[in-house]
Amino acid sequence: MIHGTIFPVKTSRAPRRGQALPAEPPIRDGAIVIEDDIIQAVGPTKDIVAQYPGVHAVWDAKGCAVLPGFVDCHTHLPFAAWRADEYRLRLAGKRYEEIAHARGGIVRSSQQLRQTPSDHVTSFVRALAGEMLMTGTTTMEMKSGYGLSVRDELRQLRLIQTLRKQVKQRIVSTGLFLHAPPPETSRSLWIDQVMHQLWPAAYDEGLLDAVDAFVEEGAFTPSEVRSLLVQASQHQLLTRLHADQLSRMGGTKMGLDLAVRGLDHLDYLAAEDLERLASSGTVAVLLPAATYSMKQTVRPPAREIIDAGGAVAIATDFNPGTAPISSIPLTMSLAVHLFDLTPEEALSAVTINAAYVLGLDQQIGSLEVGKQADVLILDTDELAMIPYRAGHNPVARVMVRGQWVVG
Ligand code: NIG
Ligand code: FE
Repeated sequence: MIHGTIFPVKTSRAPRRGQALPAEPPIRDGAIVIEDDIIQAVGPTKDIVAQYPGVHAVWDAKGCAVLPGFVDCHTHLPFAAWRADEYRLRLAGKRYEEIAHARGGIVRSSQQLRQTPSDHVTSFVRALAGEMLMTGTTTMEMKSGYGLSVRDELRQLRLIQTLRKQVKQRIVSTGLFLHAPPPETSRSLWIDQVMHQLWPAAYDEGLLDAVDAFVEEGAFTPSEVRSLLVQASQHQLLTRLHADQLSRMGGTKMGLDLAVRGLDHLDYLAAEDLERLASSGTVAVLLPAATYSMKQTVRPPAREIIDAGGAVAIATDFNPGTAPISSIPLTMSLAVHLFDLTPEEALSAVTINAAYVLGLDQQIGSLEVGKQADVLILDTDELAMIPYRAGHNPVARVMVRGQWVVG
């Protein structure tokens, strides 16, 4: 049993899944009971003690916040190296697109990945996953997209399978095959290879939980990515789309037509798409660390989406180009400051709503009976301390599947 100030973050099961219930007060002097790796009971301590008179092994959080583990539903791990030199160029005024044109950007990460032996990549990523565990990430998405050839995309997806066995977190594996046109192939040939070789091979090998694509100037158009998304959902995989990040290309409209699970970024979301998004089953996955790192003044209309009834998830977008930030607490602070979320909305956005984006909302994302015991203890009972003390790590202890792994 863990005793403290419990923030359960309950799931709304109707009418639309993926939306957290309106913020409810935390249970002060509350408790959760865990048996093996599953949550058995949640409530006021006196009720729990009455229900479980013989309960032993009480762990006292001394009134501090007890939260569900954070779910980072959008990262670009595994990558092999940083790109701080490109960051310096951007600080000096170069545009991301110019750097990408000069074989920097995604193509550069692809070269770095190809040149790095697999055991070096996995040890680099293990260290980053360890960092993320310290700041409370207990589940994360990883994806391909830095392979840019059939062989190297498959290698990146297999590295994710290796990492699954090596890190403490639960991993969801996404194929981001249409990320950037490979420099050595024509774009039409690459799309053809993705459709006829890469996607079927990755699916047959069981490497995929989801499929994503990057709709952007310099990346791919809605019509180029459409049939891959259709195929993936016909094969019962979740679909996602990077849309409206740096410009407006029609990705959101297509994503809504196809009822994708998540539309990610949305900095340039059009007013006419907003209403439709807010009343759809698609979650807006907002990535404030990318907006911040890219010094974007255009912001996604997060408040409007939430106020119109839409579901919002927040994630890091952890990657060496546009978002080199791995901390969910810091990302929550950025979401509160840049996108005007409340601390409670930010908490739902990195727990239950993010779990829904990954198709895991029945297993994780809240402290509810029957869910996996992924639990965080903070060093405070005040949720607002997370955004308020930006840069401070408020996570004191981390439990994954019923086992303390930090603290
Ligand atoms: O989410 N948008 C596309 N992909 C990444 C950037 C990847 C990179 O620069 O390496 C993103 O921002
Ligand atoms: Fe991304």
